[in-house]
Amino acid sequence: MNLASSFEQIFGHPPRVETRAPGRVNLLGEHVDYNQGIVLPAAIDRLVTLAAASASNDIVTLHAIDLGERVTFKLSEVEKHCDMEGDPLPGWALYPAGVAWSLQQAGLSLCGMQAVYSSDVPIGAGLSSSAAVEVAFATTWQALSAWKIDKLSLAKLCQRAENEYVGVSSGLMDQFASACGVEGHVLCFDTRSLEWMPLELPHGTVIVIADSGIRRSLATSAYNDRRAACEQAVELLRKYLPGIQSLRDVSTVEFAAYSMYLPPEIAKRAEHVVKEIHRVDQAIIALNRGDARMFGGFMYASHKSLCDLYEVSLPELDGLVEIARGLPGIYGARLTGAGFGGCTVNLVEDKDASTFICGLQDGYRMRTGMEPEVYLCKASAGAEAKLINI
Ligand code: GLA
Repeated sequence: MNLASSFEQIFGHPPRVETRAPGRVNLLGEHVDYNQGIVLPAAIDRLVTLAAASASNDIVTLHAIDLGERVTFKLSEVEKHCDMEGDPLPGWALYPAGVAWSLQQAGLSLCGMQAVYSSDVPIGAGLSSSAAVEVAFATTWQALSAWKIDKLSLAKLCQRAENEYVGVSSGLMDQFASACGVEGHVLCFDTRSLEWMPLELPHGTVIVIADSGIRRSLATSAYNDRRAACEQAVELLRKYLPGIQSLRDVSTVEFAAYSMYLPPEIAKRAEHVVKEIHRVDQAIIALNRGDARMFGGFMYASHKSLCDLYEVSLPELDGLVEIARGLPGIYGARLTGAGFGGCTVNLVEDKDASTFICGLQDGYRMRTGMEPEVYLCKASAGAEAKLINI
C-alpha cells in the first residue's frame, strides 16, 4: 500500500501534501563540520517519505508506518517532550517534535498535523536517517503554512532541533545535504561561510555503499565527547595561536609546532580534524581535475585517521575497507558518517561496479560470517514537498 492510501485509511480523508527527504553519504571531511571545515556529502536515493494534512487544532498525530507506532502531542506543549497523556515521547518521535519546537522557537507559526511516514534510510547506519526525518517534517510544515524560508535556514532549524531538543551536538552537514542535495552531484559545503556548490564525481565513477550491519546510537555514543575534545583543543591552542576560533584556523604546520602542548588524547583528536580539513582542500582539487585515483587516496587516508586518531572505527568497518582495497575498480574507501558502526563509502570505476559489489559481499561474509548489504548509490536531489490537489 502506498503512503497516501495508508494516510486515507488511518485518517479517513486524503493527505494534502506528500514529502520526500533523502539521507546522505559523506565522501570526505568527517567530523569537521562542527570544526567549521569543508565537507563533501551527497544526498542519496534512500528516503524518508511522508504524507500529511493540517489539523484544525494544535495537535500533531504521527504514524510511523515502519514501526507500527503512533504518537500524539500538542504543539503548545512540545517543550515538555511528552505526548498527550503526559508520557515521555518515544525516541523516534523526538525528531518531528524537535522540529516543531525549533520552528516555533524561530517564530514560525505551525498548524497541527496528521501524518504517516516511512523510511528506507537505515537507522544508525551513518546515512543520516534522523536528519532526513527532521528535514521531511520541516519541509512538510512549510508546505502546509503561509511562511517560506530558504533551504539552508530550514536545515539550520533542523540542526537546532537535533542539538537542543534531541541532545546530540551534531554539525550542519546532514541536514544541509538532505535539504540541498543536487542530483548526480557531490556538495562542496563550507560549514563556516555556509557557501556551497555542487561538484561532479570524476567521470566514469560511481558511489557504492557497504553496510557493516553494526548499528550505533549517536546520542549514546562518544560523538558529543569527540566534539568536546575539539573544543578543548581550541581552548588550549589559543594560548599559542591567539585569535583562533576553531580547528579550521589551525594549519598543519602550526599544529605540528604546538600539538606537543596538548594532552595526548586531545592531540590525537585534533590532529585528525586539522589534517582532514587539509585533505578536503586537496580533494577538491582532485575533483576539479576529475582525478579519481587522487581523490580515492584521500579517502583511504581519511579512514586511517578516523581509525587511529579519532578512534571511531570498528574492526568490521576496517575489514570492509581492507577487502575493498584488493578488489578491481576501487579508487578509495572509508567509513562514512559519525562512525562507531554503520557503512563505508566506496568510489568505484563504473564498469567494475557489479564485480566489486559481489567481491565485497563475498569477502565480508567470509571474514565475519555476516551478510553485508552493498549497493550502488545515486546522488539525489534534496527534500521536496508536493501539494496534492483535492
Ligand atoms: C554525524 C553528524 C554530522 C557530522 C558527522 C561526522 O553524521 O550528524 O554533523 O558531524 O556525524 O562527520
